[in-house]
Amino acid sequence: MSRRLAAASNDSIGKVCPAELDPICLPAHVAVIMDGNGRWAQARGLPRVMGHRAGVEALKSTLRLCSDWGVKALTAYAFSTENWSRPGDEVNFLMTLFERVLQRELQGLEAEQVRIRFLGDLQALPEKLQNLIADATARTAANTGIHFNVCTNYGGRRELVLAAQALAGRAARGELDPATIDENTMAAELYTAGEQDPDLLIRTSGERRISNFLLWQLAYAEIHVTDVFWPDFNRDALMAALVDYQGRKRRFGGLEALRTDALGS
Ligand code: FPP
Repeated sequence: MSRRLAAASNDSIGKVCPAELDPICLPAHVAVIMDGNGRWAQARGLPRVMGHRAGVEALKSTLRLCSDWGVKALTAYAFSTENWSRPGDEVNFLMTLFERVLQRELQGLEAEQVRIRFLGDLQALPEKLQNLIADATARTAANTGIHFNVCTNYGGRRELVLAAQALAGRAARGELDPATIDENTMAAELYTAGEQDPDLLIRTSGERRISNFLLWQLAYAEIHVTDVFWPDFNRDALMAALVDYQGRKRRFGGLEALRTDALGS
């Protein structure tokens, strides 16, 4: 399909992929480490938590743009297993923020056909938040639009340990022959089971770390680091990340670029 035709068919179903991007080579799955909220706030003389509040707006706009442009899944790192060590006031603010955002946005997410899931050890979250998460997950489970994964009390190493425990348990009960364990068996035990691996990881605020995020799933992701603080991550910043991605040659350890993006599978 020519680029013009692809863009036209994109438009015809209500999606508007900008002319700067090739809709055929969009990443199917984008992951984001939303870093720099605290510094964004401090630079404005505001309490750190105001950066998290502003970060919600950046996340909403990123989700809508990804959905409109044809990205199939967006996975955001909202709260790590390490974030509990932050001051109690900041942790409480974040938990309340998650609750309020879920209450406020759920109807809109439903209307836009977003399928939302929360990935992580959810049992450690406040009960009210757990209930809101269960409700949002159930109410959007059959939606046919973008997959929106919110990593909450998520840790990549913890995820791998839990997967190992689950497989070892099945082997010990005689349900699984250890010799048959392969990458698919392992992937099926992760929080992301059923989701294609991210093609692109975006990290804001200039840090060049993975920070225990999607350690298994990011094996072949392209990484885009921007100095922009997360609350300032806007249409231009997303565009820059996608243009950067589209300039990469993906080799997956081989010699030829393979396509696993939006239209390649
Ligand atoms: C990292 O910035 C950001 C976080 C730990 C929280 C991110 C959460 C949101 C944007 C809210 C999302 C809400 C929902 C419901 C999904 P930082 O505080 O580490 O920034 P710093 O490095 O400048 O200190």
